[in-house]
Amino acid sequence: MDKEKLVRKFDHQSKIYETRRKKQSERKWREKLIGSAKGNVLEVAVGAGANFYFYPKDVDVTAVDFSGAMLSKAKESATASNVRATFIQSDIESISFPDNSFDTIVSTLSFCGYEYPVKVLESFSRWCKPDGQILLMEHGLSSNRLIGSTQKIIEPIFLRVVGCHLDRNMIHIFQQSPIHIHHMEHYKFNTVHLVWASPKKGEA
Ligand SMILES: C[S@@+](CC[C@H](N)C(=O)[O-])C[C@H]1O[C@@H](n2cnc3c(N)ncnc32)[C@H](O)[C@@H]1O
Repeated sequence: MDKEKLVRKFDHQSKIYETRRKKQSERKWREKLIGSAKGNVLEVAVGAGANFYFYPKDVDVTAVDFSGAMLSKAKESATASNVRATFIQSDIESISFPDNSFDTIVSTLSFCGYEYPVKVLESFSRWCKPDGQILLMEHGLSSNRLIGSTQKIIEPIFLRVVGCHLDRNMIHIFQQSPIHIHHMEHYKFNTVHLVWASPKKGEA
């Protein structure tokens, strides 16, 4: 799907993501993961800003998304949560930051959308400081055969309507990427993964 079409798709979903943010869907996972953030934080594909409630108060967040409508909602969320944040409207697959810029890089529910997810993790590894951390909450293909085959069947419709892939093998993507995984948790029949990782320098 071409990027402009994808951006429009996410622009149209911004109200849905705002509602989900207000309901604090996935609260228990976000609280656990985002509570580990520190220092200078890059949050990619920030959406409507669902993570802002959970950041420790002393972080500085640079938040990126290619959807302007999502970014407007995210700005409201940062203000309401008193999080210091700056916002950049850009495609995360083409943006660049100097190497070793961030103490923490956060992505929640974004790897289902990228064209080249391993390349995005390679960028994370470069942008993250050597002693920094990469925090991920991603969904993908279940290891449960029945759920996995259902995901594969509905994948084409889901991709067309929502703009994200349902059947990506996230564990495989993490393993192919230059990151050291320190801790991983799996939920909902292995469809949701929480990851605490650090960059593998020199391999990105
Ligand atoms: C499923 S939503 C998740 C939003 C948020 N991270 C959350 O946890 O609720 C995916 C978000 O990624 C953004 N997105 C997808 N692909 C992107 C890309 N290549 N560059 C920047 N943003 C992207 C979409 O605009 C959308 O806001």
